[in-house]
Amino acid sequence: MRTNDTESKMTEKIIYGNWKMNGSRAAVRDLAFLAAQKTDARTECGIAVPFPYLAAAAEIFSGSPIAAGAQDVSRFAGSGAYTGEVCAAMLQDCGAQFVLVGHSERRAYFGEDNAILAAKIENALQCCLKPVLCVGETAEERRSGKAAETVRRQLGVLRAEHAGKILIAYEPVWAIGTGEVADAAQICAMHTQIHEYVLTVCGQNGRIPLLYGGSVNAANAENILEIPFVDGTLVGGASLDVRSFLEIVRAAERLQN
Ligand code: PGA
Repeated sequence: MRTNDTESKMTEKIIYGNWKMNGSRAAVRDLAFLAAQKTDARTECGIAVPFPYLAAAAEIFSGSPIAAGAQDVSRFAGSGAYTGEVCAAMLQDCGAQFVLVGHSERRAYFGEDNAILAAKIENALQCCLKPVLCVGETAEERRSGKAAETVRRQLGVLRAEHAGKILIAYEPVWAIGTGEVADAAQICAMHTQIHEYVLTVCGQNGRIPLLYGGSVNAANAENILEIPFVDGTLVGGASLDVRSFLEIVRAAERLQN
């Protein structure tokens, strides 16, 4: 169980979007609508855009409570001869406040493992970026009863000093972009497991907010946000439309009223 102190700090909901490899300069301009509508700072809110749009998104969000974020960061610290890479200092320089680390698409297509992800988390933290560590099992791993073990292995990058500095997003791979949301019992069970693991690594007062991701939309967000140990959501497809993203943010705000 959480202490009262932790509980009170955890009532704030967090809604992050992930555009993946989508968007355009016109789509970034549409974010001005979100910036104008979102004035309630109690729900932490941000969108991870592709690198080329980061500075423009950060500019649009400046003066609003919305954060611009990146979807990846180099495992190499500082600058240097790493063609194609983008380091944490550049993300910070362009106005990013958070960065996704270890999204399942990066794990699957770019072979990102715990050693790489540990370096990315460290580099992000060095530049005051909040890493959002993404974990989650494949359909096959769930079918074969290995969901808990997979997520536990992915959480191996967690260190006591990460408490209060990072977020974790549980995103079952089979729920991403499929329209098939994990059910409340599955989400609750995995979030409880992650919460307990965080306590063993970070100590009883260790606080790391836990987001759920995977086919979250305006229609299901409120129910998902009410599940125990769900502090927020990471939204892919539904974040591409500013109005549907705003509806998810509004659902979070309703729960806090
Ligand atoms: P989705 O993606 O909301 O489109 O399922 C979530 C994610 O991959 O972060």
